[in-house]
Amino acid sequence: MKDLKSYSLLRHNTFGIDARCDRFLEYASAEEAVEIVRGLKETDQPLLLLGGGSNLLLTGDYHGTVITPENRFEVVESEDADEADGIYLHCWAGTTFDDVVAYAVKQGYYGMENLSLIPGQVGASAIQNIGAYGAEAKDFIDEVRAVEIATGNMVVFSNDDCEYSYRQSKFKHAWKDKFLIVQVTYKLSRAFVPKLDYGNIRMKLKEQGIGQPTAQQLRDVIIEIRREKLPDPQILGNAGSFFMNPIVFREKYEQLAAEYPGMPHYTIDGEHEKIPAGWMIEQCGWKGRPLGKAGVHSKQALILVNLGGATGTDILNLCEAVRADVKHKFDIEIYPEVNIR
Ligand code: EPU
Repeated sequence: MKDLKSYSLLRHNTFGIDARCDRFLEYASAEEAVEIVRGLKETDQPLLLLGGGSNLLLTGDYHGTVITPENRFEVVESEDADEADGIYLHCWAGTTFDDVVAYAVKQGYYGMENLSLIPGQVGASAIQNIGAYGAEAKDFIDEVRAVEIATGNMVVFSNDDCEYSYRQSKFKHAWKDKFLIVQVTYKLSRAFVPKLDYGNIRMKLKEQGIGQPTAQQLRDVIIEIRREKLPDPQILGNAGSFFMNPIVFREKYEQLAAEYPGMPHYTIDGEHEKIPAGWMIEQCGWKGRPLGKAGVHSKQALILVNLGGATGTDILNLCEAVRADVKHKFDIEIYPEVNIR
């Protein structure tokens, strides 16, 4: 267990913001998580439960306690007694998520290949319901094990308990900062059913002369697509998509589609459409534009970047300027998907 005072979070947030927390606690096992929770005092509050810090914007020093799992690979397999094809991967919360994807693809366990190269850890996958290229973590999360902060008791949640929807879960609302996740169980399949319909996956495969990809080929293509558009946080601090894509009523979508023929959109159901915020931000002229030490990424307008030495406030100012312009031009509110602290 680590217990550090006045600790810099620079290496713990991909925006590369140099902010400190009053106390930093790291747990290396479920037992240590229980021990930490049971030892917390009133003076340790507020708490920030952190994973890889790849979806976090620190607006200043954190006057409270950061608690995080140790970052190490730990995956235990078990068979699914009900389905011959099914396999369970019980993953330590601090395991790098993409290491699980790489492992699963190598072992021939399928279902998560479209989520290749998403930054962050296993624990966060269950909080954020991470998603990309037509797949979401909720599609294969089976169970989440966590320590309840209020009691120090271990609890197990089913997928249904977590109330998943697009980039949302109960951990972001009613359960916010109330549970320390120690393990997530993913249910995968030995039968490979490729999801190729999102964006330019098929086009990329075709370019490479691949008709029916293997899971490894699909993973490689997803990695290639991501690398083309998404900035490497080692070079340009960022937290992936800064905003969520807004879901609007069909009526609003039709009004916009008439005004902007060819506007990209994803049908959610008979009444709702998702409009890519990145497209709207680009239409507002923000793509590639800086504001102080922060900027909108030149290849993907949904991503705000630290151009070097930006503070959390610099990023927030840019966030608000972008939101205001989108609201003005499209009369649509966009909201950050990044956790702002
Ligand atoms: N678009 C533009 N300009 C831009 C960016 C996008 O016109 O600058 C258009 C694209 O041409 C496309 C549409 O908007 O027609 C959607 O773009 P893209 O496929 O790049 O995805 P996105 O909606 O911007 C979402 C996720 C990403 C995920 C990709 C791929 C959210 C908030 N973001 O982005 O997730 O990788 O789809 O599935 O849902 C993340 O959450 O951090 C993240 C990177």
